Amino acid sequence: MEEEEQPRRGPHFVGKKEELIEAKRTLITVGGRDILVLHHQGVFYALDCYCYHSGGNLQNGDIEELGSRLCITCPKHKYKISLAEGEGMFKGTDPTVKPPVAKWYTKGVKQRVHAVTETNGDVYITLSDDRCYIESDYYQGEVGKERRAKAAAQEKAS
Ligand code: FES
Repeated sequence: MEEEEQPRRGPHFVGKKEELIEAKRTLITVGGRDILVLHHQGVFYALDCYCYHSGGNLQNGDIEELGSRLCITCPKHKYKISLAEGEGMFKGTDPTVKPPVAKWYTKGVKQRVHAVTETNGDVYITLSDDRCYIESDYYQGEVGKERRAKAAAQEKAS
């Protein structure tokens, strides 16, 4: 089905489950939005492809468990983002706890995540309908795309 024929939110066909598992990470564009669909430890996740911090591409980010949440690390400046919720994570200490023990805390939802479903071996995503602005939205818009392109050109030139 052509992208234009599909409803805005979806579900939008991503691919065959087995192929996506083999690929592990797949970048798709739905309604002008670039989304990373990844398969990790038996679960599919979908999130905006560009990091909320400064537009880094998350496609090759490492995945690890931090504070009982699976997180992807942005390759650009190493920010951590939980895969299931899109929360920005940081390590800190609670000064009221003695002795202080560093642990992972959330900054709240920073990266837009999308629902993934499977039907008869086909995988679909349904775009998030959260109408609140989420920081990763910036890098999906025209201004954000220009900024990403400018940063990529500067990196290439240096
Ligand atoms: S762009 Fe992702 S951590 Fe800065």
